[in-house]
Amino acid sequence: MAKEFRVTPWEVRGNVDYDKLVRQFGTQHITAEQAREIEELAGQRSRFLDRKIFFSQRGLSEFIEAHRKGKRVALYTGRGPSGGTHLGHLMPYYFTKYLQDAFGCDVYYQLTDDEKYLFKDNLSREDTAKYSLENALDFLAAGFDPARTHVIINTKAANVLYPLALDVAKRVTYSTAKAVFGFDDSTNIGSIFFTAMQSAPAFLPTVLAREKNKKAPPVPVLIPCAIDQDPHFRVTRDVAEKLDYPKPSLIHAKFLPALKGGEKMSASDDSTSIYVTDTPKQVAKKVGGAFTGGQATVEEQRAKGGNPDVCSVCAYLSYFFEPDNEKLTERLDAYRRGELLDGENKAYLTDKINSFLKEHNERKEKARKTLEKTLLC
Ligand code: TRP
Repeated sequence: MAKEFRVTPWEVRGNVDYDKLVRQFGTQHITAEQAREIEELAGQRSRFLDRKIFFSQRGLSEFIEAHRKGKRVALYTGRGPSGGTHLGHLMPYYFTKYLQDAFGCDVYYQLTDDEKYLFKDNLSREDTAKYSLENALDFLAAGFDPARTHVIINTKAANVLYPLALDVAKRVTYSTAKAVFGFDDSTNIGSIFFTAMQSAPAFLPTVLAREKNKKAPPVPVLIPCAIDQDPHFRVTRDVAEKLDYPKPSLIHAKFLPALKGGEKMSASDDSTSIYVTDTPKQVAKKVGGAFTGGQATVEEQRAKGGNPDVCSVCAYLSYFFEPDNEKLTERLDAYRRGELLDGENKAYLTDKINSFLKEHNERKEKARKTLEKTLLC
C-alpha cells in the first residue's frame, strides 16, 4: 500500500497521490476541453496544461465563460515570503503570466509576510519584509505587464485589505478554522485570523472597480495556486456567497518534486531545491546529486534501462525544462530503454536550468525599476 501523505497549507508530507487528493479536497480535474479553451485564448499551448502540472480546478468553466462574454476578469496569486525563490515557486509564475496573456487581465500578487511571521518561529518581521521584495522581483521577472500587475505586501497594504478581511473573519467560526486547518488551543490567535487576509484579494478587484464606479459589475477572479492552498479558498468561496461577491475560481498545480526524490522542494533543505540565486556551478552540483531512476552501474543501466517515473531529473524535464513535447517523449523512452544514461541526462538538465536562470535573472534586474510602480500601497 502507498505510504500515507498529508497536504495542508503549512505542511506537505509523503508521496502525494493527486487523484486521491482531488477526491479528498472535492475539486475537479481540468478537462481536455477546458485546457483547449485556455490554449485557444492564449493562442499557444502550455506545457503546464499539456503535462497536467496544473491539473485540478474549481469553477474554471464559469471563469472562462465570463471572459468569453466580455466581462472584465482578474487573476490573483501569491507567495509566503519565507525565503528566496526556488524553481518550485517560480514555475507557477510563468504559468500565471501565460494566463495573463490569455485573459488580457490584471494580476494581483499577494505577499503574506504576516502569515510567515505568524507561522514560522525562526522568522522576524525584518526577514519577511526583505523576502517580500525579493520574491516580488522574481514574480515580475516572469514577464508580467507592470501596468496590469498589483503587488500586495500584506503588512503594507493592511489599510486596503483589513476591511475586507473583517468582512470575511466575521463569517468564519473558530470551529470551521479548526476543522479546515487543524488548529488547536496552542495555535496563536494571529494564525487563526490569517485566512481572512488571504481571502481578501479575491474580492479586491470588485471593490476597486466599485470605488471608481459604484455600479461596476463584479469582477470574476481566477486563482492559480499549488493545491495545498485550496483549504483557504474553500473558506473564501463559502464566504463569497454570503458577501455577495462572485466565488473565486481556482486552478491548482502539483508540487515540483524535490531533487533528492520524494516530497516537494522544501525551502528548508538547500541541497534539494534550486534557487534563482544559485550559480551555474551550484546548479550542476545539485543536479549531479539528484535522485534518478538509473541502475547501480552503467552496464546495468544499458541492459535493464532506467525508470523515468521515479527519476527527479526526468521529472524536472517533464515539469518545465524540456519545452518540446516530442523531444520529451523521445528522451524518456530512450531513458527507459537504457540508451540514455544519467550522466548525459543530468548534463542536459543542468544546461537547460542554467540558461533559463540566466535569462530570468536578467529580467529580474530590470524589474527593480518597475517594482515600486506595481506596489498596491
Ligand atoms: N499562503 C501562500 C503561501 O504560503 C501565499 C499566498 C497568498 C497565495 N495568497 C495566495 C498562493 C494566492 C497562491 C494564491 O505560499
